[in-house]
Amino acid sequence: MSVQQQPEPRPPAAPPPGGAGAANVTPAAVAGGATAPLVEMRHISVAFGGVKAVDNVSIDVRPGEVVGLVGGNGAGKSTLMRSLSGAHKADSGEILIDGKPVTIANPRDAKNAGIETIYQTLALADNINAPANLFLGREILTGVGTLDDSAMEDATRKVMGRLNPNFKRFRSPVRNLSGGQRQSVAIARAVHFNAKVLIMDEPTAALGPAETEQVRELIRQLKSEGLGIFLVSHDIHDVIDLAERISVMYHGRLVGTVDKTDVTIDEVLGMIILGQPPDKLNREQIQSLR
Ligand SMILES: Nc1ncnc2c1ncn2[C@@H]1O[C@H](COP(=O)(O)OP(=O)(O)OP(=O)(O)O)[C@@H](O)[C@H]1O
Ligand SMILES: [Mg+2]
Repeated sequence: MSVQQQPEPRPPAAPPPGGAGAANVTPAAVAGGATAPLVEMRHISVAFGGVKAVDNVSIDVRPGEVVGLVGGNGAGKSTLMRSLSGAHKADSGEILIDGKPVTIANPRDAKNAGIETIYQTLALADNINAPANLFLGREILTGVGTLDDSAMEDATRKVMGRLNPNFKRFRSPVRNLSGGQRQSVAIARAVHFNAKVLIMDEPTAALGPAETEQVRELIRQLKSEGLGIFLVSHDIHDVIDLAERISVMYHGRLVGTVDKTDVTIDEVLGMIILGQPPDKLNREQIQSLR
């Protein structure tokens, strides 16, 4: 059993089949720097008053990888991710993108670095359709300066054809779509603009079983295209199903990062609830969680 406190080099991810959203990610990241994470957060700390919400945490994500970020309520998961999405600047620590240090002081810096966030609220405009949401604030215009609706619909059909071929409701206001379809629109918007890294904070929390499966399928697709995904979830089954590695936080600290294949669900639960890595937990402690 290996518990990494700090990232270690690992074999390259399988080369992704390609796709517009991943086009600027994969060749260099996979071929050139096989061991280079897309994003590396080093020794990040964030305090609110006297509370250390995030305390010296280091995590990373590689191309084509889902890293599950788990921990109890208030463990610091969202705060850590907010320091990557530019919503809240870290007090200390370093963020590296493709091995180079960057400053992420606001959401624009994060987007420019290829980091997109899918918020639980999805931040969609309910009264307009999927293409209009995809291009909201970045509309395609015709030669005479009017909105080029057909170009935007075509582009939306193209990206959706990759992500969720079952999606057909391109002309309905998104308020009429199901929760899973709305997730598809939010994700399509992120990947259309060349996200390399997606942060998903509780993407399935508000969804029923069928829609949860739809979102899991979307995540598998994004992974196969070479994106790196930080998946924050209370649903241990989401994490076990989708993640390659699991990083566990407890009271602001990183308990450890484990390869999914090295641990049992009970051991991950032990890390979450008792705040200790599996090699420090004994059988009785793990059994006491049942
Ligand atoms: N804006 C804020 N101001 C003050 N304290 C905050 C703020 N945001 C978070 N905190 C505190 O920081 C700690 C970490 O909170 P955070 O929301 O990051 O946890 P979390 O792991 O995402 O929890 P949950 O699973 O409930 O979403 C908590 O003690 C929380 O109360
Ligand atoms: Mg949270």
